[in-house]
Amino acid sequence: MSFMLISFYLLFTYSKISDAADTITSSQNLTEDKTLISKNGIYELGFFNTGNSSKRYLGIWYKNIAVQTVVWVANGQTPIKDLSGLLMINSSRSKLVLSQNKTVIWSAILKRKPQNPVLQLLDSGNLVLREANDENSENYLWQSFDYPSDTLLPGMKLGKDLRTGLDRRVTAWKNPYDPSPGNLTWTMHVDNYPEPLILRGSKKFFRSGPWIGVQYSGQPTLQRHPIFEFKYFNDGNEVYFMFVLRNKSRLARMTVNQTTNSRLFFVWLEREQNWQQLTSLPRDFCDGYGACGPNGNCDAKKVQPCECLRGFVSKSPGGCVRNKPLNCKNDGFVKYISMKMPDTTNSWLNTSMTLNECREECSKNCSCMSYANSNISEGGSGCAMWFGDLNDVRVQPDGGVDLYVRVPASELENNRGHKWKIGVIVGSVALAISVLLLVLLCYRCRTQKNSKEKGYFAMLGYSSKEQKEDLELPLFDLSTIATATDNFSIDNKLGEGGFGPVYKGKLEDGKEIAVKRLSRSSGQGLNEFKNEVILIARLQHRNLVKLLGCCIHDEEKLLIYEYMPNKSLDSFIFDQTQRSLLDWSRRYHIICGIARGLLYLHQDSRLRIIHRDLKASNVLLDSEMNPKISDFGLARTFGGDQSAGNTERVVGTYGYMAPEYAIDGNFSAKSDVFSFGILLLEIVTGKKNSGFYCPNDSLNLVEYAWNLWREERALELIDECIVETCNLSEVRRCIHISLLCMEQHPQDRPSMSSVVLMLGSDVALPQPQQPGFFIGEHSHGGFSSSPFKSTSPSINGLSITVLEPR
Ligand SMILES: *[C@@H]1O[C@H](CO)[C@@H](O)[C@H](O)[C@H]1NC(C)=O
Ligand SMILES: *[C@@H]1O[C@H](CO)[C@@H](O)[C@H](O)[C@H]1NC(C)=O
Ligand SMILES: *[C@@H]1O[C@H](CO)[C@@H](O)[C@H](O)[C@H]1NC(C)=O
Ligand SMILES: *[C@@H]1O[C@H](CO)[C@@H](O)[C@H](O)[C@H]1NC(C)=O
Ligand SMILES: *[C@@H]1O[C@H](CO)[C@@H](O)[C@H](O)[C@H]1NC(C)=O
Ligand SMILES: *[C@@H]1O[C@H](CO)[C@@H](O)[C@H](O)[C@H]1NC(C)=O
Ligand SMILES: *[C@@H]1O[C@H](CO)[C@@H](O)[C@H](O)[C@H]1NC(C)=O
Ligand SMILES: *[C@@H]1O[C@H](CO)[C@@H](O)[C@H](O)[C@H]1NC(C)=O
Ligand SMILES: *[C@@H]1O[C@H](CO)[C@@H](O)[C@H](O)[C@H]1NC(C)=O
Ligand SMILES: *[C@@H]1O[C@H](CO)[C@@H](O)[C@H](O)[C@H]1NC(C)=O
Repeated sequence: MSFMLISFYLLFTYSKISDAADTITSSQNLTEDKTLISKNGIYELGFFNTGNSSKRYLGIWYKNIAVQTVVWVANGQTPIKDLSGLLMINSSRSKLVLSQNKTVIWSAILKRKPQNPVLQLLDSGNLVLREANDENSENYLWQSFDYPSDTLLPGMKLGKDLRTGLDRRVTAWKNPYDPSPGNLTWTMHVDNYPEPLILRGSKKFFRSGPWIGVQYSGQPTLQRHPIFEFKYFNDGNEVYFMFVLRNKSRLARMTVNQTTNSRLFFVWLEREQNWQQLTSLPRDFCDGYGACGPNGNCDAKKVQPCECLRGFVSKSPGGCVRNKPLNCKNDGFVKYISMKMPDTTNSWLNTSMTLNECREECSKNCSCMSYANSNISEGGSGCAMWFGDLNDVRVQPDGGVDLYVRVPASELENNRGHKWKIGVIVGSVALAISVLLLVLLCYRCRTQKNSKEKGYFAMLGYSSKEQKEDLELPLFDLSTIATATDNFSIDNKLGEGGFGPVYKGKLEDGKEIAVKRLSRSSGQGLNEFKNEVILIARLQHRNLVKLLGCCIHDEEKLLIYEYMPNKSLDSFIFDQTQRSLLDWSRRYHIICGIARGLLYLHQDSRLRIIHRDLKASNVLLDSEMNPKISDFGLARTFGGDQSAGNTERVVGTYGYMAPEYAIDGNFSAKSDVFSFGILLLEIVTGKKNSGFYCPNDSLNLVEYAWNLWREERALELIDECIVETCNLSEVRRCIHISLLCMEQHPQDRPSMSSVVLMLGSDVALPQPQQPGFFIGEHSHGGFSSSPFKSTSPSINGLSITVLEPR
């Protein structure tokens, strides 16, 4: 028995070695019928062809990905024309040789003459030639990572080794069927101030901008991107760009593609068996190199994106020239905020100088045109200066540097006028918003007055026997509830809901309850109120909080609900420590639950209830984290007539209200859908819509999400603590659905039944349009969801500092 096991084991290990080796030695070779497979089973080296072509190439691809995805090619320019390809190590000539029919068609020169070499395909996708007993990467005799094709894998360096002259650059394939080098090259431009660059032919095509301490100046990502991290290394000997993944077991690649003229970043979605494109550069007109010519400034948000920098006027055929010569001694600087650094070709860098020293140094030299901090982290440090024309400058909406551009002192004198204009703009925007608010307030006053006019109803006396007969709902005694809540003790208060405070209580039998003490006055008579409560009590769904009973005593009206031990959703998703308890599968479960609960209210229940105040704090979580919508039906019962509000409050919460509801008071099931869209976005991002703060920008969460969506960067929205656990395609779908729910026009939003369908299946989703409540240039007349924030519009990233001439 044990013999059989051992021989079986031997047989098994033997077959494993022969079938899936990751190395060959100098006495072995690699032919058409063999491949090398990295130990982790991810990468495979062998011969392949493209499309129908009979040309054979030696290359590396992903072993388990059905669509051939080649990450490295040896002989892109010299394909093998038959099946006689042979790869072997020729130790005597210190070469790795690929031959066809005994003719050498490609070879790699080794650093030294090898003793006992092995060729190994590593888990990283790197094909290395090393001494059999030496695994130190410093001592590799040769590695494919030093000679990239069109793909950069995690951990691969893009840049130069200044000691050896090795230049690692990524070059696009000519076309999907021809791996020979095309004319799009991604390289590290090494000068005083290095920066990655994409060349088209020999012309600059896109600049990443130099590293500014936390990111590359021209390719902002969220400073902590949930999935990857960009790195920059420069020690004087080596300068390189690199990306690494936060979760090393993800598959990702960056590639330059000549067909699309872009640099693309893909991650593999295991569940979808598909590559998801994370980013694509260039993104817009302004990303194109020198879009506005020398000394021009490109602002993609404008209809006419090109403008001359201050102190310059446009010239033909393009770009800008100084309108007045510099005085040299008495010049000042105009500050542009949130900018991409100019082309660093004629620049100078000192990483230890401060901004003041930098200004001083720049002022001294007449040909210094501009300066900036070279490192924006921790308040800024370092000094970069530019000489001659400023090329390829643009406004970088999310994250960028403050760029100081030299102008004659006389130019600065106009500032006062300019400032005055800015004042007028700010003033009129503020005025417009105040008027809008005033209108809204008056509207509220009016509706409040209406309900006052109806007056307070005298409480009707009733015999409790009678009532108990019609009620399917238990009636509690006030004394029972008072005892259970310790006389509504402040210690038992759970919170203040829309219609009054909520207390925790414990009945005599030990059952825990939540008691909502409704604010005293309502526009309704007692009977109507009771009827409504009975109706609400009949609404039973596992995603709605269950009403256990009620208590009516004189002016006191109490609703008794089941108690939810995990409080409300907002106490998780917006809390620094609690948020990580809700991983993606839980959040998805919650999203689907809320959708089903809302669908029930809208369609399936007999009442067809519009919630009107759906928000994170109105979603409670039971002990198993199942979501339960609370406060449903109260708007109808307690909120008086069909317009918004009663004597005590307006139904609805800023940040969740649909535009047509907030502005005109029109509500419908579709206004609940809008609130659901906001809530969905909040759950995915872990950020509050109201009070969302995006540095350097006055965007609200919805706008921010929309901008990222348009740039195909939606995945940057994901709450960083769920990224590792989430299913990216599911999250992306949720963001998509949320944008559909937030459309400006109610008729464009899906119904909750469509939402439930979209969440639960792979039905194709329509493209979303710009969401409602969009401030900024593309506004459709909505106003900010947080009306107090939009009073400080950003003015094209321009602000002026008046400098006393030195
Ligand atoms: C390739 O290696 C095999 C053994 O691994 C050997 O039998 C064969 O002769 C080699 N072919 C050439 C052309 O060296
Ligand atoms: C491959 O062959 C098929 C059928 O022979 C043909 O229709 C197709 O155009 C070919 N594709 C390429 C890229 O040559
Ligand atoms: C190495 O190359 C030399 C010169 O081309 C050749 O003579 C020799 O046979 C090669 N060695 C092997 C092992 O193929
Ligand atoms: C390979 O070599 C043999 C003999 O030298 C020759 O007959 C054959 O045509 C060659 N094949 C190719 C594709 O060059
Ligand atoms: C470049 O992109 C096009 C369009 O997406 C795609 O068809 C092609 O396969 C890509 N080229 C390479 C070399 O991957
Ligand atoms: C790049 O190559 C394509 C086709 O290979 C060609 O049409 C284009 O003009 C080239 N562009 C440059 C800048 O060389
Ligand atoms: C940028 O500044 C931060 C904080 O001062 C420092 O930790 C970091 O090393 C700097 N980065 C570079 C590239 O100089
Ligand atoms: C950078 O600036 C510091 C402080 O002004 C100075 O001591 C240092 O010599 C400068 N380095 C270079 C390379 O100019
Ligand atoms: C000004 O800067 C340029 C470029 O670095 C340099 O060539 C020139 O010597 C400097 N002039 C002075 C006066 O420092
Ligand atoms: C990393 O990703 C893999 C596959 O995508 C996943 O199974 C694993 O849980 C992730 N690791 C962490 C630490 O989240």
